[in-house]
Amino acid sequence: MTSPTKIRKVALLTGGGDCPGLNPVIRAVTRRAILAGWQVLGIKNGWQGLIQGVVIPLDLQSVSGILPKGGTILGTSRTNPHQHSEDLQKLLANYKVLQLDALIAIGGEDTLGVAVKLIKEGLKLVGVPKTIDNDLSNTDYTFGFDTAVNIAMEAIDRLHTTAESHHRIMVIEVMGRHAGWIATCAGIAGGADVILIPEEPVDLDAVCEAIRKRHARGKDFSIVVVAEGAQFKNGTLVAKEGKKDAFGHVRLGGIGQVLGEFIEERTGFETRVTVLGHIQRGGSPTAFDRILGTRFGVKAVELVLAGQFGKMVSLQGNQVIAVTLDERAVAMKTVDPEFYLMAKLFFG
Ligand code: F6P
Repeated sequence: MTSPTKIRKVALLTGGGDCPGLNPVIRAVTRRAILAGWQVLGIKNGWQGLIQGVVIPLDLQSVSGILPKGGTILGTSRTNPHQHSEDLQKLLANYKVLQLDALIAIGGEDTLGVAVKLIKEGLKLVGVPKTIDNDLSNTDYTFGFDTAVNIAMEAIDRLHTTAESHHRIMVIEVMGRHAGWIATCAGIAGGADVILIPEEPVDLDAVCEAIRKRHARGKDFSIVVVAEGAQFKNGTLVAKEGKKDAFGHVRLGGIGQVLGEFIEERTGFETRVTVLGHIQRGGSPTAFDRILGTRFGVKAVELVLAGQFGKMVSLQGNQVIAVTLDERAVAMKTVDPEFYLMAKLFFG
């Protein structure tokens, strides 16, 4: 008698900050894997779920209707299994207990950084890059970014009408921990008058000068976009005192207020500050992010089916390809200086 063929099993998890487009990936992975006859398990809350062994079966029914939804039906966390060795041991044990043939990790620099180390422990992993910040070096775009830029652009459009009516300076603080992609792209698309990013120290004199220049040519309102991770020339980063996550990142936020107060004091123009915060991460993904998430999910499963582990899916030009999931894949991608120079042409 021949033994029945074992049904193969792939698990997936979403880690780090959520973003629009995660559910399209979960749906695509599940549907593509089921088509291939595989069983699919969803690990809850990122690496934490694998440490605790909390998984749910995913089938066509459980991923039905999730394509347009923001967030992640699996939940997420900023858990770092390498912070405590007993967590790592539990994670490795659960990987075995669950009898996984493959694991797909969807995340940014931290989640995929963990994946890089786990590949070295022998786990059969494929990575899917995600972040609204778009700051991963080995993919042209991450999903979530396009949605965040559109949300920030719409906010800038809205701020324009009230800024113009009241003849005010509007400072808008957007996300972007190490890289100013959201600020630069939303700023260009929204016609901001000054854009400040982590890649270039903030020159307060130059900011005020650009605003004065605008006023001198008859424009008595201005929009200043600042990324939360921008630093002043003296190296000051505005962060929440003592708040760090499991990967050692400080919690940012507040530079907009500091900047707004300075601009008002120095220029004498009435200034208001808007912090966009997590609004940029919530809600429905754009068509671009739904399509990119779907392509990434399908490609991730196809890599699993082909036994190509230790890879990350990546958008290069218009092609979704596989790259090696190593330290280089998760290295930082900052704003191209030439691109920022182009944005600067419209300052003031
Ligand atoms: O990494 C994505 C990101 O949205 C950053 O832009 C931001 O600094 C951070 O996450 C905020 O994290 P949290 O959701 O933990 O406040």
